[in-house]
Amino acid sequence: MAEPRPTPFLCPSCSLAQLAHAHGNLACPACGWHAQRQDGVIDLAPDDRRDTQLDVAAYAADLPGEAAYWSMFTSLDAVVRQTLGDGPLATTLELGAGNGAWTWGLARSPRYRNVYATDISPEFLRRIAPVIPEDRTLLLRGPAEAITCAPGSLDLVVGRSFLHHIHDYEALLAALRGWLRPGGAAVFFEPCLQGKLWIAFFMEVLRRLDRPAAPGLLASVLLRLRLRGGAEQRLSARAHSRLHGTMRHILKDFYHSDIDAIRAGIEDKYVFDIDTLLAAGRAAGFAEARMVNQPQDGGLALRRIRGALEGTLGAEKAALRAYQPVFDAFEATFGLNGQTAPIAPMVHFVFRA
Ligand SMILES: C[S@@+](CC[C@H](N)C(=O)[O-])C[C@H]1O[C@@H](n2cnc3c(N)ncnc32)[C@H](O)[C@@H]1O
Ligand SMILES: [Zn+2]
Repeated sequence: MAEPRPTPFLCPSCSLAQLAHAHGNLACPACGWHAQRQDGVIDLAPDDRRDTQLDVAAYAADLPGEAAYWSMFTSLDAVVRQTLGDGPLATTLELGAGNGAWTWGLARSPRYRNVYATDISPEFLRRIAPVIPEDRTLLLRGPAEAITCAPGSLDLVVGRSFLHHIHDYEALLAALRGWLRPGGAAVFFEPCLQGKLWIAFFMEVLRRLDRPAAPGLLASVLLRLRLRGGAEQRLSARAHSRLHGTMRHILKDFYHSDIDAIRAGIEDKYVFDIDTLLAAGRAAGFAEARMVNQPQDGGLALRRIRGALEGTLGAEKAALRAYQPVFDAFEATFGLNGQTAPIAPMVHFVFRA
């Protein structure tokens, strides 16, 4: 029988001791609180009033394949190595594990010795449990705001597309800073305004070009781009409203005068301005905060923008072909090499304790 091993988590009942783990059972040595793994998941801080608004079944029906899982993990691992070196990491906390985009690789890479993958949604975790090996990784249900770790008990915190779901992300960053050992780090892969802006821009340009009577200035733009038949509407009204809606979603802080009143109730709460988030990290006590852009080789920036447009247009994405001159103009201006390419829509934010 393996000895119970200490985990970083403080007991959710008495807060007096760190929970110990043995065989999928978490137990408090001080007060006797305990929780057993069920369907692959342990209830660490269950809160039935809070869950994700995401369509968990749709995500889970479309779990990434092995190659996609490796590729997502590899880009995280590269940033972690740049930050913390190549040695083993005793304790990693993942927040918002979702469909296991990072959990999958963390659980398979022996360098990450103990991985605690958490999510607010028990359903997400139950669905990935069968593809996550249990030997070094625990799946734990609990909102990030309700979890507490012992001071200095973590080497690494990671979250992929997670932090922008947290209303008081400044408070969470301050808590993480206290749970990390000095020199440890938190790495988040998040939507950033300076990158997403290009998607919003393209959506608005396409929507305005794609209508019957393009007035004045636009008509001359169409002419210059040699968009033959530019006055012809190719996209449905539904596609127009999706382009407009997505653009407004990205630029929500500019479009909704009451954004701060509604923020708590919406799932995607922020598209982070780079300087604002890095400043929040420093204010939370991190010694170093930096942004790591995605590698921009091979026209990647433009491919990402196209990918976002295709995702929004769905079945109508073939219409994008008619607007190739717009993409060519973009390519001629940016995206030719790593120096001129714009910032990617999603980037890594790294905070070092
Ligand atoms: C956009 S998904 C990302 C999932 C996965 N990391 C990925 O990259 O595919 C956001 C995740 O954060 C989780 N989440 C949202 N609010 C949370 C909170 N307060 N505490 C913990 N997880 C939360 C959601 O359930 C969801 O799994
Ligand atoms: Zn206890």
